[in-house]
Amino acid sequence: MTTTVPDDFLFGTATASYQIEGAVNEGGRCPSIWDTFSHTGHTLNGDTGDVACDSYHRWREDLDLLADLGVDAYRFSVAMPRIMPVDGGKPNPEGLDFYERIVDGLLERGIRPVVTLYHWDLPQYLGDRGGWLNRDTAYRVAEYAGVVARLLGDRVHTYTTLNEPWCSSYLSYGGTEHAPGMGEGPKSFPAVHHLNLAHGLMCQAVRGQVGDGAELSITLNLQMARGDADAVHRTDLIANRVFLDPILRGYYPDELFAATRDLCDWSFIQDGDLNVIHQPIDVLGLNYYSTNRVAMSDRPQFPQPVCATTYPGCGDIDWLPTEGPHTEMGWNIDPEGLYDLLVRVWDEYRVPLAVTENGMACPDEVEMDDDGAEIVHDGDRIDYLKGHMEAAGRAMRCGVDLRGYFVWSLLDNFEWAFGYSKRFGIVRVNYETLQRTPKDSFTWYRDVIRTRRLV
Ligand code: FCB
Repeated sequence: MTTTVPDDFLFGTATASYQIEGAVNEGGRCPSIWDTFSHTGHTLNGDTGDVACDSYHRWREDLDLLADLGVDAYRFSVAMPRIMPVDGGKPNPEGLDFYERIVDGLLERGIRPVVTLYHWDLPQYLGDRGGWLNRDTAYRVAEYAGVVARLLGDRVHTYTTLNEPWCSSYLSYGGTEHAPGMGEGPKSFPAVHHLNLAHGLMCQAVRGQVGDGAELSITLNLQMARGDADAVHRTDLIANRVFLDPILRGYYPDELFAATRDLCDWSFIQDGDLNVIHQPIDVLGLNYYSTNRVAMSDRPQFPQPVCATTYPGCGDIDWLPTEGPHTEMGWNIDPEGLYDLLVRVWDEYRVPLAVTENGMACPDEVEMDDDGAEIVHDGDRIDYLKGHMEAAGRAMRCGVDLRGYFVWSLLDNFEWAFGYSKRFGIVRVNYETLQRTPKDSFTWYRDVIRTRRLV
């Protein structure tokens, strides 16, 4: 069954600055923690974002692709290293001009800009002072958010404070997968809190510039675990409610303190922080790709060692293999998980939702047409998107207030620790020539958008 969406529903695609821009030494940009991380052997094949899709130079072509696709909105991120390249210095006019051109270019093409203010490319000078372990980072990032909002004002449809703070904390300070790759499990918790604080301060900074009409959001990648009720409950607490409850309800659950007692005293929470974190938001973005399977473990666990874990406080839980099929990332394909997620978050928190990322990495095969041009028949990606859109539509029919759906990604791009080995785009990028070629999924999505139906 298909679901017709309201006129103001946003069909879109998403990207992020470090994944597509390249031009890392141009326009007055300073290095970010991801430049450092990728240049010091932490990514597959030593890949870096130095060139990426070269969107810094090819942005007009990319906006034309969006216009051709017919999207209502484009979710992209602004790079703080372009806007505030000097520690303690003034905003950089070249950086500001770059994003102003993109926003105006989108509006000229009838596309609404959905701006992510922080998609992981923290300036290295803040990284040098402890990154998200340092409370001051929250204030510096909020100040930058105010600078962007002063420039772009109400030309932006939605300001998203942070993309996936779970990754910027657990995967970056708990684990070693993301910059700075600290690998000290419980160090995730101060990072979590400072990110939550940054979110609240960024909301205040944007509202301070744009006024109450500013539409604000944050994007979370909630972990959808399946399995033993106890194991599911704990992973939900550590990975999800640690963000949802302070942001949407103004408190950390007591259970969280109990579950992490041996690992962290949470003394970094200061008086008044929760009031700052608990700002009204207009829409909650959810990035969804797959589900996990968990079970309580019978392995001896306690006291839990301080180890490189992205799930501190879950040392007595086992992660089990998921049922297939899987994408090229090894992530299972489970559209029902998206339905469950949307219904659950809506039922519990009653906040309007948007799917701000959903998509699939495929080993795309490139064929040549009679004129020697590249073509990609990515039927698997179409099936993936179709299944998830159907699930999102079903959630809407069950009463979930869903405001938008964004495909990850417009372009094949730098997939963080996986470098260029994983392709998520509905447009192929030939990394030698940087040529863009719409895949079959692009044409398919264009037809979906025209019908204004979730398949
Ligand atoms: C998400 C990120 C995005 C992209 C996709 C595949 O976690 O937000 O930048 O890498 O995964």
